[in-house]
Amino acid sequence: MFDGFVQRISTTTGLQIRPQDAPTLRQKIINRCRLLRLSSPEAYYELLSASGTESFREWQALISLITTGESYFFRDRGQFSVLRDRLLPELIQRQRQVSPERPTLKIWSAGCSTGEEAYSLAILLTELIADWQNWNLTIVGTDINQTALEKARQGFYGDWSFRWVDKTLIHRYFERTKEEWKISHQIAKLVQFRYDNLVEYFSPNFNDFAQVDLAICRNVFVYFDFAAIERSLQKIYQRLNPGGYLISGHTELQGQNLTQFQIKVFPESVVYQRPIVGRTEPDRTQPQIDSFLPLVNPVKQPKPLILSPEATLASVSASPKQPKLTPKKTETCSLPEEEIQSLITQAELLFQQKKYPQALTLVTELLEKKLPLFELFYLTARIHANLGNLKPASDYGSRAIELNPLIVEPYFLLAHIAEEEGNIEQAKHYLKRAIYLEPHTLSAYLELGSLYTKQGDMNRARKMWQIAVELLEHQPPQAKIESGKETTVAEVLAMVRKNLKNT
Ligand SMILES: C[S@@+](CC[C@H](N)C(=O)[O-])C[C@H]1O[C@@H](n2cnc3c(N)ncnc32)[C@H](O)[C@@H]1O
Repeated sequence: MFDGFVQRISTTTGLQIRPQDAPTLRQKIINRCRLLRLSSPEAYYELLSASGTESFREWQALISLITTGESYFFRDRGQFSVLRDRLLPELIQRQRQVSPERPTLKIWSAGCSTGEEAYSLAILLTELIADWQNWNLTIVGTDINQTALEKARQGFYGDWSFRWVDKTLIHRYFERTKEEWKISHQIAKLVQFRYDNLVEYFSPNFNDFAQVDLAICRNVFVYFDFAAIERSLQKIYQRLNPGGYLISGHTELQGQNLTQFQIKVFPESVVYQRPIVGRTEPDRTQPQIDSFLPLVNPVKQPKPLILSPEATLASVSASPKQPKLTPKKTETCSLPEEEIQSLITQAELLFQQKKYPQALTLVTELLEKKLPLFELFYLTARIHANLGNLKPASDYGSRAIELNPLIVEPYFLLAHIAEEEGNIEQAKHYLKRAIYLEPHTLSAYLELGSLYTKQGDMNRARKMWQIAVELLEHQPPQAKIESGKETTVAEVLAMVRKNLKNT
């Protein structure tokens, strides 16, 4: 009988009851039976297995007994510094480009417990975005534990919740009450709390929230069994906008199949990105090393690069020029933003399924609405590239860059097209631009190495590969680099070293 409870808890909540926790759970079940005046654990099991309000209410009672809600503000400083210095600036920049009038940014704290994580994110955003009042900022905290959610909504915290937080920050964002601190109204209004069970694919409470740009799910999977983590990951992936990020606890995703994500490794944390794009797959004679997705290296200080003068691009400066194509969305298109996003996601899915003509039909409809969207132009470029229409692919790729010159992927696409067309100089030029934007983009060095080899410039080829080796040496050897191919850092390193030896 008891195993039945363990199994049911796992299926319903994802929570894994470890053998050492079994006696405590048994006692909790007995206590619940007594309180509910049930004759036996079997009757309690039946109650949990039923559908309807009574069963749901009992699950709520049980969940607050078996979940761990420990949380505090700005938990894991390293991850918060990656958020502050890398991910959020990128997302903020991207969203500004997409809708300069009133940018939107949506963040999801999944398994938010009593709300410390969600409020920390709201505080961080208001620190990072000077004009945040002109943004549509939403942070949604979700949890399976309604009691924790209620506490989160109230927004009162004791000193222990601020164990790592600077006093000035507490005074700036909280009001002192008798014994606690209350989150300020202006931060609280950015945050919503809702019930959501991560292992259930459908989230009726969450549907109006649609897609998010960043999902944070930390210290939740540690309590889950493997299959539940797998299910939750699928859900999170589907909830992320293309280009959106997931941050999880440091070892919480160990052993999971993460190939659908692009992995970025920073010294403080690994992060997982839903790819904005696939890549064109040009037929290459060079070894596999020239077809990797961009990988951002953890090293913060760029290694010195020896680049030719045209690589220092005045046009891609720290303050990017405004996109040329930025008519107000409302002037040109009556589709709601959520619907546009959903159509683009559908087209992206068709693209990933290699249904290029169908994907093209969908994006063409959107293009007719004159939407100045980076994602749309870039996706159109990739579709054309995969259909072999290099000219429109190149045109749409260039227009995507006009809309957002700071995203590296289109430069790779244009580099591949240029190479297909036999224009090696142009291909090198785009790869150098990619390096300018992301000095640690491994694939750019690998690809430049092979282009220089093609041109017989072995000195430069070696330089590129040496940089690639330095970048790779800072990665965990078993980290996967390319989605689909299951290649590890160690394998790529071996290939590049071999190249160096042979030249
Ligand atoms: C330790 S807290 C983590 C809080 C916060 N993320 C942090 O890192 O400080 C774990 C939370 O996960 C929630 N949780 C457990 N199972 C869940 C599920 N199936 N769906 C959503 N939340 C769940 C628990 O209720 C609990 O509040």
